[in-house]
Amino acid sequence: MNIIVLNGSPKGDLSATLQYVHYIAKKYPQHKFSTLHIARDIQKTENDPQRFAAVIDQVAAADIVLWSFPLYYLLVHAHYKRFIELIWERRATAAFQGKYTLAIATSIHCYDHTALQYIRAVCDDLGMRFLGDFSADMQDLLDTDKRKQLLIFADNALQTAAQQRPTFCVSQPAAVKPLPYCPGPAPSAVNPIDKKILIVTDTKDSASNQAQMVSRLQARFGGNGTVVNLQELRIETSCLGCIQCGYDNCCPLEDRDDFIPFYRDRVMTADILIYAGTIRDRYLSARWKTFFDRSFFMGHIPAIKDKQVGFVIAGPLSANPHLREILQAYFEMMEANLVAIVSDECSDSLTLDGQLDLLALQLITFSQQNYRKPRTFLGIAGHKLLRDAIWGRLRFPFIADHRYFKTHGGYDFPQRDWRSRLKNGFMMLLMKIPWIREEVYRKRIKSEMVMALQKIVEEA
Ligand SMILES: Cc1cc2nc3c(=O)[nH]c(=O)nc-3n(C[C@H](O)[C@H](O)[C@H](O)COP(=O)(O)O)c2cc1C
Repeated sequence: MNIIVLNGSPKGDLSATLQYVHYIAKKYPQHKFSTLHIARDIQKTENDPQRFAAVIDQVAAADIVLWSFPLYYLLVHAHYKRFIELIWERRATAAFQGKYTLAIATSIHCYDHTALQYIRAVCDDLGMRFLGDFSADMQDLLDTDKRKQLLIFADNALQTAAQQRPTFCVSQPAAVKPLPYCPGPAPSAVNPIDKKILIVTDTKDSASNQAQMVSRLQARFGGNGTVVNLQELRIETSCLGCIQCGYDNCCPLEDRDDFIPFYRDRVMTADILIYAGTIRDRYLSARWKTFFDRSFFMGHIPAIKDKQVGFVIAGPLSANPHLREILQAYFEMMEANLVAIVSDECSDSLTLDGQLDLLALQLITFSQQNYRKPRTFLGIAGHKLLRDAIWGRLRFPFIADHRYFKTHGGYDFPQRDWRSRLKNGFMMLLMKIPWIREEVYRKRIKSEMVMALQKIVEEA
């Protein structure tokens, strides 16, 4: 069979993910694997219609499409995202329709599931027959058993395609088509006191719902919010994955365009951030993805810690639960306070007016009160995963992260909790005595567990 590999790594041939594909290819010499460096070559492919057509021709001629990609900010790399947009923009979907497809991703498993959900949804939208996905840790290929698992996955996928078997379907939530938003009379302005408000948007269409929502917020802030349009900001490329920033947070692209000064001087210094975007395929635009990818020069340091954030989204958010999860997880890991995600999937414009006005008010109130709601599993689990990786195998090359984690309490391992460790040791010894065990587990454990909390309530 003819397998076309769409490489989503900006590093081209040096992609770790691609080594997994090469490994499979070596084990199956009877099949032909051809690789297209989609993420690395996106600018050439986008700017040269013939080149794009040649890519699509290769897809059309293939028996199987293999999406091979690294995780970038809980999704795929911005250039890969752009390619996916181009498939629809240039009406090339027919080449993918009905084709067998599979996905191989590498990462450190930090929100790999959201990236896989995204690719899966894109494949479903393209009418492809999804054979399955395989999410490997970037080092898994070094392990004999993991290699075995990879080959089982590949073998199953190749056989299913060769024998033209059916594939499993995943039902997608129905998309609600948002209504055109017509804001009502100008709202009364809230006083932002001395808070610095930055609104980042990416639409050029002033009549769009996204633009209208941004205007409403600006009016509510009494014109005190600065608006920056990502389409007007000089950004030449997304992150190249070189990780030179790992040592000291200096990005080699710093002098090539305006992104780093913008992020460092405007985003990182704001008190209140409002991000506005429109759903394209199953995420925001590739431009927004570039914004997130390029912010990687700060590594795993929570560069927007303690900021109040509002997200304003036009388009079918409810049909894309992975997007909501990505945003919530991202801001929780950033230790920022995501006040709300306001979407235009409202019943009418009046309701949306009310939600936007409330968002503006809460952003300012919470900023004054330094409120940060507790993190959920998304942020806590994400933090623990990154903490362990940076303490361990990723300390080099991410030396700047290690410095930050060390000096800012990022290494909050339970091993340091001497009180609990002593208590546990003592109680575990006691529990060896049957009558004490009986007394504690049967009679006292519930009341003991709540005792300290009750004391606080009593004293309040
Ligand atoms: C800018 C950037 C963002 C990343 N984001 C994630 C992420 O969200 N989750 C994750 O588990 N790994 C993330 N990674 C790690 C890569 O996915 C991982 O190193 C991958 O194996 C690289 O594959 P490649 O060599 O094929 O590009 C990120 C790496 C970079 C450079």
